[in-house]
Amino acid sequence: MVRPLVDGGKPGPAAPGVEVGVGLLGFGAVGSQVYRLLEEGAERIARRTGWRPTVRRIAVLDPARPRAHPLPVHLLAPDAAAVVGDPQVEVVVEVMGGLEPARTLVLEALRRGKAVVTANKRLLATHGAEVSSAAAAAQAPLAFEGAVGGAIPIVKPLRETLAADRVRVVEGILNGTTNFVLTRMTRDGWALADALAEAQRRGFAEADASEDVGGHDAAAKLAILASLAFDAAVTDADVFREGIQEVAPRDIAYARELGYVVKLLAVGRDLGEAVDVRVHPALIPQTHPLATVEEERNAILVVGERAGPLVFSGPGAGGAATAAVVVGDILDVAGRRRRGSGEAAPARRPAGVPARRPVWPVEDLVIPYYFGLQVTDRPGVFARVAAVFGEEEVSIASIVQKSRGAVADVVLLTHEAREAAVRRVVARLRAMDVVKSVDSVIRVVE
Ligand code: HSE
Repeated sequence: MVRPLVDGGKPGPAAPGVEVGVGLLGFGAVGSQVYRLLEEGAERIARRTGWRPTVRRIAVLDPARPRAHPLPVHLLAPDAAAVVGDPQVEVVVEVMGGLEPARTLVLEALRRGKAVVTANKRLLATHGAEVSSAAAAAQAPLAFEGAVGGAIPIVKPLRETLAADRVRVVEGILNGTTNFVLTRMTRDGWALADALAEAQRRGFAEADASEDVGGHDAAAKLAILASLAFDAAVTDADVFREGIQEVAPRDIAYARELGYVVKLLAVGRDLGEAVDVRVHPALIPQTHPLATVEEERNAILVVGERAGPLVFSGPGAGGAATAAVVVGDILDVAGRRRRGSGEAAPARRPAGVPARRPVWPVEDLVIPYYFGLQVTDRPGVFARVAAVFGEEEVSIASIVQKSRGAVADVVLLTHEAREAAVRRVVARLRAMDVVKSVDSVIRVVE
């Protein structure tokens, strides 16, 4: 039987703690910080939890690559398979990222009955159901708090704390880079390219910044959160995605006058027979719980039927922050593994969750829309524009001319309308001689 060595939180003599062998796959921004935390925090962790996770072996894809923190070469394994296969390694920590060889290694570790901790969002967003099923089949603990939102606790709340509730809505600002860019465009009038360059300089942009700007990073995170929240297998390919490339400073300014802020929003809704999952720029009211989330911060709004609205927020990235929750996961799975094997209790419900559910087509969305147009400034133009909306059954909530001259800016908000109808309106407006351009159509999320 495993016994915590220190009880009641009493300060005591240095506690040896129960050793747990850890194998580290990857030694980058997160992996190196996991190693440091386990080294530097060993006494505190042992005193507090009774466990002493110890890195036994490390594998990296390229040992020659220069690194911010030197590789502990005495722990370096010849390859990753040697880490997974090492009998001293009970917990495999996958922080190498990417789909392969991460997927094969994680599946192999689970097949061997090892506990797995991963912070690999791409792996879970693409192969979450497969990985979770493998964990369930082997009754091997799997944890991945670090895969979404840095140290923000969101995976465990959705997977465990709220497991009895019915979560219908998960909305988030899940990408720090784009939130930083939009904040700078909104507050300081920066151009997108300048704000993006600053985000890259500060180190939170992806290696390929189009992952951020195009919404891919947020879509992967939403797939993981929606899977947990709605008990459905959602992959990143299911998520409708639009990036912030087309958001203009003008739209941000007009939105503000109308009482909205522009965010790259990840929206997940459980509609019962289908799930609605999308990432796109959105106007959200200034009073929305996510409206004040600025700079590179992330936040997630979860609405539980019983729990009501809950907001989780914090820095969404960073090696040290992510390492903190990865080590938390190591402690969690170590306990589960020692307690759990052979017990009659059901295996933990897999997290990427096997059951697929239809995805609600974005054309069938019924929400309000914002339009930014340029039209010829002469009598009768509004009437002609309004007629198109009317004929397509899209009801106009407000229409304002924002500038004067031969060509004028016009901003328009609709009542709730079907996206398919809105798309027909756009196509028809673009064909009109009095409409010089339809610059932007942005979804409104109340
Ligand atoms: N590039 C990501 C972001 C960080 O900007 O939020 C890690 O997912």
